[in-house]
Amino acid sequence: MTVVFPLFHLPLVAMEHVLCMMNPYELINLSMTSAKSKKAVMALSRMKSEFSIVLSFYRQPSISILRRGDPWNFRWVSDESRIGYEEFTQFGYVHHNICKHSKKPIEELMELNDYIKEVLKYPLRCVSFDLCAFPTQIKLIADWLRSQSMIYAEIWNSDREKEIGDDLKYLVNNITVVDRMSLQSSRYKEGFQMEIPTTPHSLRITNASFINFEQLLRLKNRKISLGKPCVSAKELNNFLKSWMDRESHLDLEAFDMNISGPEAMEVIMDLSHEETADENVTETFNKKFYPPEVKNGFDIKRCDGKVATVGYGNSSTGPRFYMLTH
Ligand SMILES: *[C@@H]1O[C@H](CO)[C@@H](O)[C@H](O)[C@H]1NC(C)=O
Ligand SMILES: *[C@@H]1O[C@H](CO)[C@@H](O)[C@H](O)[C@H]1NC(C)=O
Ligand SMILES: *[C@@H]1O[C@H](CO)[C@@H](O)[C@H](O)[C@H]1NC(C)=O
Ligand SMILES: *[C@@H]1O[C@H](CO)[C@@H](O)[C@H](O)[C@H]1NC(C)=O
Ligand SMILES: *[C@@H]1O[C@H](CO)[C@@H](O)[C@H](O)[C@H]1NC(C)=O
Ligand SMILES: *[C@@H]1O[C@H](CO)[C@@H](O)[C@H](O)[C@H]1NC(C)=O
Repeated sequence: MTVVFPLFHLPLVAMEHVLCMMNPYELINLSMTSAKSKKAVMALSRMKSEFSIVLSFYRQPSISILRRGDPWNFRWVSDESRIGYEEFTQFGYVHHNICKHSKKPIEELMELNDYIKEVLKYPLRCVSFDLCAFPTQIKLIADWLRSQSMIYAEIWNSDREKEIGDDLKYLVNNITVVDRMSLQSSRYKEGFQMEIPTTPHSLRITNASFINFEQLLRLKNRKISLGKPCVSAKELNNFLKSWMDRESHLDLEAFDMNISGPEAMEVIMDLSHEETADENVTETFNKKFYPPEVKNGFDIKRCDGKVATVGYGNSSTGPRFYMLTH
């Protein structure tokens, strides 16, 4: 893994060629050997890199450096006998693990990631967050994450019985997620309320029991997927009417929510609509959502002429209402 030949005696183009062939671990390792090599690696990283970073705040937190192929993971393990290098194959990819151990894994992870960001400039792609893993350090991590935006964030709690409250709120209110935010908490403290940031293009909440009709109308995200919200079929009907009147959700692309069953559609569709002209309505919905098996679609029209297709589907999590705009 170490560079044994005199790298810096090579002509510049040849040196860049050698650096380009190195894996992320070798590049990081090389950059730490001297000021000169750090400069060389930083110069290389000015070129467009295909790598990106995934941070996992689990019980054994990690920094993963991904390309299309094999990931390189720096993982802080609890079992000291694992310190060092290990690899395993999963789904055809070789996972390279550099296992570390520390009394302060979060601080070390943040330090190493700051270093990688400075030297290699890999963008932050995803943050995966278990709220139960480091409960006393959530604010610290959120404050540190605030300066960097990410494409995707998923937040959950490994202890499914734990009631989630201010920690989740602090995190969600302080990070910037550009594309997708997935909140997978199972239950909340009594009276829990939380505003949802407008930035993530796509929002998914597994247990949205804290979202009521008024908050649903305020959501600005373009794709919204809610499980178990406090929104009735009659309110869903009002939600559609509000969309048709251009009073809310002007940029909405897709929406889905659980409902009690097929009979709720009668209440929801109590507004002007017609059978969709789309012959392949099932496929149209399948392209946008995880296989819901929508059999019949209905078109509704907004006052400015924009059309949305809505339908009922029985998903793996139960009966759902689906909507997509054209
Ligand atoms: C660089 O790699 C060598 C050989 O694998 C290893 O002994 C050394 O600890 C590494 N340095 C850092 C900073 O990780
Ligand atoms: C971080 O989140 C807390 C809790 O929601 C909020 O009060 C605070 O204003 C947020 N900080 C920033 C800088 O947005
Ligand atoms: C959703 O959260 C509420 C509030 O904590 C809780 O009462 C309910 O059981 C949760 N639903 C599920 C399916 O976990
Ligand atoms: C969604 O599912 C939950 C749990 O299965 C249920 O309590 C709730 O009433 C459902 N929502 C609607 C609008 O039917
Ligand atoms: C519907 O799907 C069939 C088969 O996939 C395809 O041949 C047909 O062109 C589609 N029709 C429309 C209107 O897209
Ligand atoms: C929905 O699908 C499940 C199997 O995935 C089935 O058990 C259930 O009866 C279906 N419910 C309705 C209302 O069609």
